[in-house]
Amino acid sequence: MSLSVNFMGIKLKNPVIVAASPLTGNGSMMRKAIEAGAGAVVTQTIANEVRYNVRPRIAANHLGMQNIELYSNLTLEQWEREIYHAKEKEAVVIANILAHTPSEMAYLAKKVEKFGVDAIELGIAIPHGGGIEVIPSNVDRLYSLTKMAVDSVKIPVMVKSSVNVSNITILAKAVEKAGASAISAIDTVRCILGVDIDKGKALLPTYGGYSGEGIRPIALAAVAGICQAVKIPVSGIGGIDNYENVLEYMMLGASTVQICTSLMMNGYGRIGEILNDLEKWMEYKGYSSLEEIKGVALASLKSFEEISVEPYVAKVLGKCTVDECGECLKACIYDAISSRDGIIVIDPHKCTGCGLCVSLCKKGNIYLDW
Ligand SMILES: Cc1cc2nc3c(=O)[nH]c(=O)nc-3n(C[C@H](O)[C@H](O)[C@H](O)COP(=O)(O)O)c2cc1C
Repeated sequence: MSLSVNFMGIKLKNPVIVAASPLTGNGSMMRKAIEAGAGAVVTQTIANEVRYNVRPRIAANHLGMQNIELYSNLTLEQWEREIYHAKEKEAVVIANILAHTPSEMAYLAKKVEKFGVDAIELGIAIPHGGGIEVIPSNVDRLYSLTKMAVDSVKIPVMVKSSVNVSNITILAKAVEKAGASAISAIDTVRCILGVDIDKGKALLPTYGGYSGEGIRPIALAAVAGICQAVKIPVSGIGGIDNYENVLEYMMLGASTVQICTSLMMNGYGRIGEILNDLEKWMEYKGYSSLEEIKGVALASLKSFEEISVEPYVAKVLGKCTVDECGECLKACIYDAISSRDGIIVIDPHKCTGCGLCVSLCKKGNIYLDW
């Protein structure tokens, strides 16, 4: 059994990549990620100008985090040394670059190629900061920036996409047409994490990017949609915290995954845990390579019009008592669920087969076969 994957023509020992972020902000941090087992690292966004970080710039809750960082505060000259330092560990390094014009793009792409990186990711989907957010939703601009990067270098170019756009699949097709070797999805989602109601002020002083568990369902939809629209490989990003999440992305068609927030919250050691669990699951299921599971769940996604209206109803498995959790009782707005002497009973005539009780049941005692 092997976790290795071929991504954009590059052999990775496994599909878990550390996403562009402060976790990959210099050579020693990238080495930490590689030593922790990552298949590759994507550098923090490298731009032509140096921009110092505002303070504070991160706020978190139980579902994820808002950040208002823009990009690296290292110069291009410094990045040359940092990339060299990471490459000494035989790391696969992907340089994330941000440019606003095609000529700036050509300059930066050629520079990082010379520094020895294995591939480039265009970090043009950041949802905060003046002017930057317009790039990913402008098809012509996205096409010309991508094409310029692709034409300027010999190494593969991947484009990081945003969901802060009207139609992600049109943009994905433009990127593919421009010659990109892959698409990564998604960057953070424009957000305000919350308001301190005692002080009457937002938790951070400007709009930011939301990441972590809370964005995973949005990112899964983006990845599935892109995989259905284009032929180039996709790197899935957003809220990955365990091996099950890795499998969800891969079953929806991703070839690799990228992780940021979970590692910021739990440390680089999480990479090893995810890989161990993934390996055990693959062995238990009898798979020999990740290619066997790639995209298998896409077939279960129909268009809304294709779904037939079947008279499915929820059923209780064995005997379930209210004491076990009782969530289904509280949630059934159709009054189909009641308790008789403490035992959960579902009235098939009242059940409308919505499925909510199945998701809420903490014991897995309710099912609805569809
Ligand atoms: C603090 C922080 C800084 C980030 N910096 C960058 C960056 O420099 N370039 C970039 O393309 N994405 C950046 N991202 C976005 C991540 O690469 C990733 O797309 C996003 O966080 C979603 O993945 P996650 O849910 O695993 O965090 C940053 C995210 C966070 C939380």
